[in-house]
Amino acid sequence: MAKFNLATKITLLYGAYNGSLTVLANHNLMNFYPLESTTNLHEGYSKQFTVNGEDMLLIHSGNLTRLIANRCPHDGYPLKKAKLANGLIQCPKHHICFQLGNGCALGGEAVDDIPALKRYDLVEEDGKIGILI
Ligand code: FES
Repeated sequence: MAKFNLATKITLLYGAYNGSLTVLANHNLMNFYPLESTTNLHEGYSKQFTVNGEDMLLIHSGNLTRLIANRCPHDGYPLKKAKLANGLIQCPKHHICFQLGNGCALGGEAVDDIPALKRYDLVEEDGKIGILI
């Protein structure tokens, strides 16, 4: 188990594949880059960000908040206009659905060779959700 002193900021990390929260300590070596107030997250929320030159989408659906690359892992199509519902994101190009919980495509063997969504770890601090850079 990781040790940390009480003066260390403790934040909640939203990146776990099982959707549970993980305590992240000792992140003082990195800077918190806020993206959104947690109060603004709602079912179907989607907003595009560019951080360190990477095109990302902050999305919320099915009580899951994820920061993903704004590129479909199937053929690279932007996901900015993708549909979000019930913890799924559907790419507008070929309509493949990806699960926000584990990032994997739905469809069994037909989609086995499609990589999962590229995801970034999220951190909550002082009512804001963001990333460490
Ligand atoms: S590019 Fe997204 S499903 Fe094909």
